[in-house]
Amino acid sequence: MSRQDLLEIYRSATPVIAPSMLGCDFGNLHREVELLTAAGAPMLHLDVMDGHFVPNLTYGPVVIRQLRSLTRLPLDAHLMISDPAQYLDEFLDAGCDGITVHVECFSDSRTAMADVLERIQAAGAVAGIAVNPSTPITEIQPLLNHTDQVLIMSVEPGFGGQAFQVESLEKLRQLSETDKIIAIDGGIGPETIGLAYAAGARMFVCGSAIFDAPDYSAALQTLRSAATSVTTVQEAC
Ligand code: DX5
Ligand code: ZN
Repeated sequence: MSRQDLLEIYRSATPVIAPSMLGCDFGNLHREVELLTAAGAPMLHLDVMDGHFVPNLTYGPVVIRQLRSLTRLPLDAHLMISDPAQYLDEFLDAGCDGITVHVECFSDSRTAMADVLERIQAAGAVAGIAVNPSTPITEIQPLLNHTDQVLIMSVEPGFGGQAFQVESLEKLRQLSETDKIIAIDGGIGPETIGLAYAAGARMFVCGSAIFDAPDYSAALQTLRSAATSVTTVQEAC
């Protein structure tokens, strides 16, 4: 799917619920993909961790290539690796439709980050910038022209199942004037998704809220309806 087609889908299908495969049963990956497809998942969010940028290890291009052969769903890779530039071509060749890189990996060179984002777009994929909870939005403002998507981390990256950090809502509000796809990742469930939607997020990465549920279709439906329902911070936290 072309970058423009994918961006159009993301914009028109909001709230976009992106299952984070970190929470899936990797022993039954094919079955998990079938269940998510049948449940109407619009895409898959792939958490790539190197044990260095974050204190956890997951998988890389080899597994993504296999996943690519199982599904036509858009594959959105969230690279939690210290040197995304070095491995970028491998992720693109493996069949990623979108690649998000962390701004914290480029603290000494915005030019290098802009170059990576441009390489992603030139390959026909959606480019994204991810922002850790402790990184202010001012760090990414000069790079917004180079990206399609911004991923606000509402937990410290590395593990699923953590509690939503309510401070991330302010970052979503700070981005409300941009025309970028605004995504949020970490601790998103029926209690928190409405807060994030009201603050401006339109794509929602969900691990536990889907994979801990017995019925993925019902979980996706619950998340979609909760996104546009009014929630207060007191209810959520
Ligand atoms: C955390 C990952 C998330 C994680 C979300 O580093 O980026 O995508 O899987 O899991 P939940 O939804 O359980 O917080
Ligand atoms: Zn993620």
